[in-house]
Amino acid sequence: MENQAITENIFATRLKTLENPSQILTNPEYAEEIREKIIQGEVFIAKQVCSPEWVQQVKTYLTRIGNSSLPNYKPIEMGCPNFHRMNRWDPRSYVKACFHQFVFFPWNQDMFNFFEVARETYQIKNVLSHNPKDKFLGQTPEEDCVSRIAFQFYPKSVGGLNKHIDPVDHHQLCVPIMIMSKKGVDFETGGVYAETANGEKIYLDAEADPGDVVYFNARIPHGVEIIDEHKKEDWLSFEGRWMMLFAINKLSTNNAIANALDLGNG
Ligand SMILES: [Fe+2]
Repeated sequence: MENQAITENIFATRLKTLENPSQILTNPEYAEEIREKIIQGEVFIAKQVCSPEWVQQVKTYLTRIGNSSLPNYKPIEMGCPNFHRMNRWDPRSYVKACFHQFVFFPWNQDMFNFFEVARETYQIKNVLSHNPKDKFLGQTPEEDCVSRIAFQFYPKSVGGLNKHIDPVDHHQLCVPIMIMSKKGVDFETGGVYAETANGEKIYLDAEADPGDVVYFNARIPHGVEIIDEHKKEDWLSFEGRWMMLFAINKLSTNNAIANALDLGNG
């Protein structure tokens, strides 16, 4: 497809509540209806997939790890450890970003059983992408791909992610995200947005609540506008914005984000 066509936003981006997320797994007609709407650009919010208390517990746990151990990047390889790392607009990334990331793999055990908690959301993502529901959910890679849970923390003053579109291929129509911070409570300005065809930004952290999961077409231009740019930078305070990403990634030898397209800081 031509670059022009890729960057043009033709989506009627609108928010809807996803009333029966589980039904996507049992009712193929319903699944097809939601899939079609996501392709057209509708953004669906599944309410309270996790409780706000669970979200708070995870944030507290990751904050302790984040401010008392060294951040280190590790390539995505079979058997690699869970880790956390920092990204300060690293020029090597396809989409430029500034965040602190905590990464979990299905072959490691963790305190929260994250892959059990995330199982249904991954299954919904699979069915919406026309994949068998348990694809990529085993402890070994399938077609060189693995599921990978990433918690991303965007610190006040500097945290953000350039506007971009993600590749839509056979393994994902959408990358579900769990909202973990509330705009107006945990931070004041910025946050994750999806853009409408007329360039308007829909701020998802204002529309959804901690514990809600948002599904949207990865081809809708989206990004994270700098969090509380007027405040003082302080990574160790962990004041800012959290989210959880239900990703499927290719192993490092075959980089999955090679086709993501950075649309700049807009
Ligand atoms: Fe993205």
